[in-house]
Amino acid sequence: MQRIVVAIDGPSGSGKSSVSKEAARRLNAVYLDTGAMYRAVTWHALDAGTDLSDAAAVAAAVKAADLFISLDPDVEKITIHGTDVTETIREPFVSEAVSAVATNLEARAELVARQRAIIEANERIIAEGRDITTVVAPDADARILLTASEEARLRRRGIQLGGTQSEAELEAQVLARDAKDSTVVNFTVAADGVATVDSSDLDFEQTVLAVLEAITAQASTNA
Ligand code: DC
Repeated sequence: MQRIVVAIDGPSGSGKSSVSKEAARRLNAVYLDTGAMYRAVTWHALDAGTDLSDAAAVAAAVKAADLFISLDPDVEKITIHGTDVTETIREPFVSEAVSAVATNLEARAELVARQRAIIEANERIIAEGRDITTVVAPDADARILLTASEEARLRRRGIQLGGTQSEAELEAQVLARDAKDSTVVNFTVAADGVATVDSSDLDFEQTVLAVLEAITAQASTNA
């Protein structure tokens, strides 16, 4: 089968993870959740007692992190030094701390290098995050920005977290985090050559199909 590298970026709640996973299954590709890597190294820094306001210490903790991430779209697993953190990294204490790592340029450079190595080592891969189309894999065969209106994103996040959080908490979490993260990476406007798929009015299946169409169109043009 032909090698294919697909880069997908987008904000929280755009449906990026579930859509990218399903597109990977249908393309017989592996799947890389780079956000999970940011979360896992954040857990590691917290676990090691790192002062998150100390940029050099945060960068050192990230460099020292022995991280494993499953690339199987059907197996969600991420470990740090052998400790399974798959569930823990989704908890609010990690979500609240992750921007300290995501805005640390040295930490980003380390994770970008590891992500590029993973992409290089895999023939068929969909990698998703915030800077995949622009920084990690600007030469990907297909690059997509998956967007959705603020309203649709908040609604989806609410469902994803089991509807346990108040609207204000959700809004603070999703919008504040995006605002912080977008100070270092731009994932709200498609860069040159990046196709935009707006999922606001699409259901899951329609979004997957729109993404697959965009991939096919770009991969044939770039071939
Ligand atoms: O997609 P997510 O919510 O799991 O991402 C977790 C955090 O990592 C979020 O604050 C954005 C950041 N991130 C990033 O800066 N660059 C990436 N390529 C992926 C995620």
